Amino acid sequence: MPPTDLTAGPTAVDHLTAPPHNVAVIGAGVAGLAAARALKAEGHRVVVYEKSDRLGGTWAYDPRVESDPLSLDPNREIVHGSLYQSLRSNLPRQILGFSDYPFSTKTNRDPRTFPGHQEVLQFLNEFAAEFGLVESIRFGTEVVRVERDDLENDRWVVESRHQETNLNELFTAVVICNGHHTVPKVADFRGREKWPGKQIHSHNYRVPDPFEDLIVVVIGDGPSGTEISLEIAAVAKQVHLSSRSSEVRVSKMDYGDNMWQHSKIDHANENGEVVFEDGDVVHADIILHCTGFLYSFPFLKTEGISVEEGRVGYLYKHIFPPKLGPNLSFLGLPYMTLVFQMIDFQAKWVAHVLSGKARLPSEEEMEADVRQHYQSMEEKGIPKYHTHSLHFELDYLDWLANQVGAKGVDESARLVLKSYLKFFIGRDKWRQKDWEPTNLM
Ligand SMILES: Cc1cc2nc3c(=O)[nH]c(=O)nc-3n(C[C@H](O)[C@H](O)[C@H](O)COP(=O)(O)OP(=O)(O)OC[C@H]3O[C@@H](n4cnc5c(N)ncnc54)[C@H](O)[C@@H]3O)c2cc1C
Ligand SMILES: *[C@@H]1O[C@H](CO)[C@@H](O)[C@H](O)[C@H]1NC(C)=O
Repeated sequence: MPPTDLTAGPTAVDHLTAPPHNVAVIGAGVAGLAAARALKAEGHRVVVYEKSDRLGGTWAYDPRVESDPLSLDPNREIVHGSLYQSLRSNLPRQILGFSDYPFSTKTNRDPRTFPGHQEVLQFLNEFAAEFGLVESIRFGTEVVRVERDDLENDRWVVESRHQETNLNELFTAVVICNGHHTVPKVADFRGREKWPGKQIHSHNYRVPDPFEDLIVVVIGDGPSGTEISLEIAAVAKQVHLSSRSSEVRVSKMDYGDNMWQHSKIDHANENGEVVFEDGDVVHADIILHCTGFLYSFPFLKTEGISVEEGRVGYLYKHIFPPKLGPNLSFLGLPYMTLVFQMIDFQAKWVAHVLSGKARLPSEEEMEADVRQHYQSMEEKGIPKYHTHSLHFELDYLDWLANQVGAKGVDESARLVLKSYLKFFIGRDKWRQKDWEPTNLM
């Protein structure tokens, strides 16, 4: 679902320039790195806060899992990463990278079309080195508070913690790049809490070994749900995949004789049974929730930004809160898109707006634009939690590129994406990683 009226607002890059900003960037994943590069290119001063000791965010594989496998315990120590050990990208390498720093620049890589997470991390390390970003990153430093200064409204306080020491610093702009694949969304069904088996969210899934010989119910048939199901099926006794999209009533699947597809879970019983909406019953050992993640900005203390049902609002073009922008911005919220390219275009637009090379519409116009987006979703019956889904439509990316005078998504990337989507959508998402460039059509 592309945002509404893509032609609204000023488009041409003009020649106004403002003094450089002091910018705090929160996070050194894809978004934080792209932001640092774009901001520096526009002459801004940048500090990147990164709570871990590595750059790469999601792509820095972390074998640790949280103490509560459903991540509901408020006192747990949070692990940022959600990758499992075997994960390969779900975009082919031809369209995984940035438009002006493609993934395929380097040779002697893994020959597979869908690279493993190690190679993606290596790519991000090279990107950071190439653009001199590492020296701007403060590793091991967690941002615990971002707040507009009471006295001087155009200053932002960033409170950070390094080891045991807290530090308050003032900035003129803050770019939030903390990612949104860390706080699990857990499936809700009657009897969940009293169900005696083990329950785990994919956030805390790393390897299939603990599922050996067990009867497993997997909830959710997104990319993680399908891939993890296949991986587990190789060792588990049975895998039962439950999804809201499934219209099939108990079908045995082609992918091994120990996999079944079911409708949504209706409820679970204290005797260990899991009862599906279509009446089927499975006596399972473990339920694996592959049900996605929640947006969360625990450090943001300034009011005016709401997060509900997967919607961060109000945000103009998924980035600027009309009341607080352009000095507060959010990168990387949209999904179902060419993530790296999108983030990079967003970062460049933010950098240009801050330097005065691109201008935002008035607060009222931005609010009206967001309201119109929400309203058109409502009229089409699209649920709130799809607010930031781009459904692989590229207009938004082209719109962003246009704001900074760049060429949008190029023709060859469009072709690859189209061919790849055609390859599995409505057909066989279980085999999406069989796509090869020779399938271009
Ligand atoms: C299982 C899985 C598979 C995926 N597969 C793909 C794929 O194939 N292709 C694709 O394009 N995308 C994929 N993604 C999406 C992926 O999240 C993006 O590619 C990208 O990593 C998003 O980057 P980001 O910078 O927005 O967030 P992240 O990578 O999450 O980085 C956020 C960073 O912020 C830091 N941070 C957070 N809070 C604070 C704080 N308070 N203070 C300081 N630092 C903080 C974190 O430590 C982290 O380093 C996948 C995601 C998951 C979970
Ligand atoms: C954004 O920052 C600039 C430069 O510090 C300042 O002049 C402007 O007032 C700020 N805008 C808002 C809405 O705070």
